[in-house]
Amino acid sequence: MTDEPTKQKLWGGRFTGKTDPLMNDFNESLSYDRRMHNADITGSIAYAKGLQRIGILTPDEETKMIDGLTQVGKEWQEGRFLVQPDDEDIHTANERRLSELIGPLGGKLHTGRSRNDQVATDMRLWLLGEVKVIEESLKALIRVIVERADKEKDILMPGYTHLQRGQPIRWSHLLLSHAFSFNSDLDRLKQLIPRISVLPLGSGALAGNPFCIDRDFLAKELGFDSVAENSLWGVGDRDFIVEVLMWSSLATTHLSRMSEDLIIYSTAEFGFVTLSDAYSTGSSMMPQKKNPDSLELLRGKSGRVFGNMAGFLMTLKGLPSTYNKDLQEDKEALFDVVDTIQASFKIAEGVVATLEVHADKMRQALTMDVLATDLADYLVRKGMPFRETHHISGRAVALAEARQCQINELSLQDYKSLSDKFTEDVVDVFNFEASVERRQAIGGPSRVMVDRQVAVLRSALAQ
Ligand code: ARG
Repeated sequence: MTDEPTKQKLWGGRFTGKTDPLMNDFNESLSYDRRMHNADITGSIAYAKGLQRIGILTPDEETKMIDGLTQVGKEWQEGRFLVQPDDEDIHTANERRLSELIGPLGGKLHTGRSRNDQVATDMRLWLLGEVKVIEESLKALIRVIVERADKEKDILMPGYTHLQRGQPIRWSHLLLSHAFSFNSDLDRLKQLIPRISVLPLGSGALAGNPFCIDRDFLAKELGFDSVAENSLWGVGDRDFIVEVLMWSSLATTHLSRMSEDLIIYSTAEFGFVTLSDAYSTGSSMMPQKKNPDSLELLRGKSGRVFGNMAGFLMTLKGLPSTYNKDLQEDKEALFDVVDTIQASFKIAEGVVATLEVHADKMRQALTMDVLATDLADYLVRKGMPFRETHHISGRAVALAEARQCQINELSLQDYKSLSDKFTEDVVDVFNFEASVERRQAIGGPSRVMVDRQVAVLRSALAQ
């Protein structure tokens, strides 16, 4: 033990008193930011190269330093890294270990650098890697939906508004509607990347780098698209994290809405789909139960993700410029969201891939009243204004309701009593397949338009 109580800490020089042990625990971030060990080492290796280029390190020192950093990285990878009580975060832990391995030379690595530009760089670098993983799992989900939709085009079902039967559609059309939400998410995710890929390294603590480090070189080394043009902004900006949290809030909202459809459709009352056992669980009390827990969790996770976003935005609101320790709160929010969304896409993919669809049940749910719009359209084709035909079709529905029959069971006489424009061919209206096939405009549920949607999504996935 030394009589300098905070000697062990990298910043201990100006301190005379000890840190409260509770404060130590409160302050540390290593327990969670250790997952960025790879980004931290990568960033430091690039920085060591940068230091050599401006003469702070000799080529020999540069080599020793890179070897040392590589060694530290290996220790993390192989689970051999020994954390010390005074390791505050991944940055101090790695630097401490580096100096143990290569001696006082290790102390040169932080020349002109601060944990402020270091942590912002690590976060961006780490996130760029994770975004790739998220993108792939999102694409896999879209692909599964599209392939399923392509195979199950023959299945007709009622389309709903207000959860009331509206008009006949293809099951594929419904599936694809969710795929289009996810496809927009894919678009938006790609648009975030250039704003994540901005290099803060070389911003120093706040006022830039006094040794004229070549930041374009650092950006190239680390694969960043651009360099943070303002050092205060470089260390203080966390918008790239907020954007990912917002993006995730919307993407999980889409997962939640698709889940809700499938939860409803999997009830005995609907019976349209059966969830695979692999994604369901039972009840501890009611032996007959098979619950759609996977879908409920997907629905629930969206609240958790949104909560992380709202929480971190509250942390940012009102912060003074540049780095403040509040910013350390970015990590648990982001890590949790990244883990949650990666798992969610995988689960959703599995659920959709293994879902059993009951075409007969969907068909049974198609009652003739969902053709009431088509009945009105029939009269439109005979020259009447839609407002009138809407009214006449409504009266047909009311008449059928009074007779406790379906609209196709009314006689031609009945129809003629509603409008003299009705002729024998009115029976052609009462055909679900024909109704769906009439919807040939772009975006409709006809076969050719469903094929078009499949093609559009396939080409988006191929990009
Ligand atoms: N662990 C800190 C974080 O996550 C690193 C930056 C510390 N900087 C400082 N000036 N204390 O934000």
